[in-house]
Amino acid sequence: MTSMTAPSPSAIQKLAVALDFPSVAPAFELFERLNGAAGLFKIGPELFLQAGPDAVRRLVDRGAPVFLDMKFHDIPRTVAAAARESARMGVTVFNVHASGGAEMMRAAAEASRAVRPETKIIAVTVLTSLPTTSEEVLRLAAAAHEAGLDGVVASPREMRALRERFGPKFLLVSPAVRPAWAASTHDHQRPASPADAASAGADYIVVGRPITGDADPVAAAARVVEEIQSAL
Ligand code: C5P
Repeated sequence: MTSMTAPSPSAIQKLAVALDFPSVAPAFELFERLNGAAGLFKIGPELFLQAGPDAVRRLVDRGAPVFLDMKFHDIPRTVAAAARESARMGVTVFNVHASGGAEMMRAAAEASRAVRPETKIIAVTVLTSLPTTSEEVLRLAAAAHEAGLDGVVASPREMRALRERFGPKFLLVSPAVRPAWAASTHDHQRPASPADAASAGADYIVVGRPITGDADPVAAAARVVEEIQSAL
């Protein structure tokens, strides 16, 4: 007989499932199946451009904690307007690119908080598909921190240094996570395991294809949560 420990709420809370689908039906279906089994549901450009803000609102209305991952990067006024609209949809968290600059980040945070203070705004440091250095990631994270953002997106490899430098309240979101059983690292240059990302201090661990591409996505998500839990 195999013994399975029940997943802890804190481990479940850390899993952010990337709903990267070309249409809304499978995204909603997966949300319904994983509702309560993950802490965030991430909507990126693929689904957003397909299904639009209505899909986001519908997910929010169904109680989904939504991470709107549009990575805004434009002049401050344009990003502030996009930030305002993101907050209006009631998302839990959305993001901008730290490389857009301090003024852009401050304008976005101000616009978003004026509409919905509880929506978190985080900055992408360096895309995990690109080569970079820890110094560069820390420099961009410091700019986001100074601009008053709630946290950053960074590779799991930088989590520990970011946590040490910016303290327990700075939200750390880590994509580029691959469980050992995942078929491929796909396009990530610096992947780490869910357990490594959790033990390094990530608040949210973003996993897409290892879950969405699995024949049994519910079991795959549970395995990721189990790995996260093993590190807490
Ligand atoms: O399928 P996979 O687990 O690689 O999905 C990772 C998700 O994280 C994708 O939706 C991708 O857009 C996102 N991502 C991100 N920031 C990065 C790298 C990936 O938000 N730096």
